[in-house]
Amino acid sequence: MKKEMVLGPNYGQYSGQKLYELLSEETLKQRVREIGKLISKDYSDKTPVFIGVLNGSFIFFSDLLREIDIDGEVDFIKIWSYADETKTSGSVKLIKDVSCNISCRDVIVVEDIVDSGISMKYLKNRFEDSNARSVRFVALLIKESTKIDFTLDYIGFTIPDKFVVGYGLDLAQKLRNLKSIYAFK
Ligand code: IMP
Ligand code: MG
Repeated sequence: MKKEMVLGPNYGQYSGQKLYELLSEETLKQRVREIGKLISKDYSDKTPVFIGVLNGSFIFFSDLLREIDIDGEVDFIKIWSYADETKTSGSVKLIKDVSCNISCRDVIVVEDIVDSGISMKYLKNRFEDSNARSVRFVALLIKESTKIDFTLDYIGFTIPDKFVVGYGLDLAQKLRNLKSIYAFK
């Protein structure tokens, strides 16, 4: 996989923009493995429900799950917060709620990235208002200037304040299939 790439003509206003590899496949793999081990240890006597936040977390979620060696169940929630390709709208819309019954369950919410924090805040309210037995939050990425007034239980990497794509993260729904994470220069 290339360390740098230039967006082609299909990317509209972003055509010609340069991206560089921020987190390689190997780096991601190692960290995902570590988080998987931690969760397996912390939940060794439990059967949690893993909730993936769609769409961005789908690749991280499936890799993380395969690094977890305890029993667990899987469900998804879909929220939407972006006003345009790279900026939050400031409000969160629930597109699809969880389908399973989470009452009295140990819930682990798996998110791709925390930027302004409004999506995480929304998720926190959604799950803490439920009657789940416990709720914890995993985020693969958090941007370095992000300020949130609650703690995340598992964080993969703190990254510079740049827009990133790949490994599930998109630019206008594209580039999710990149195997590593790229940042705009
Ligand atoms: P927040 O609500 O501003 O924290 O943004 C959270 C959501 O916006 C994440 O779940 C992502 O889906 C998306 N997002 C935030 N930053 C980025 C980025 O750099 N690249 C791609 N998606 C992002
Ligand atoms: Mg997301």
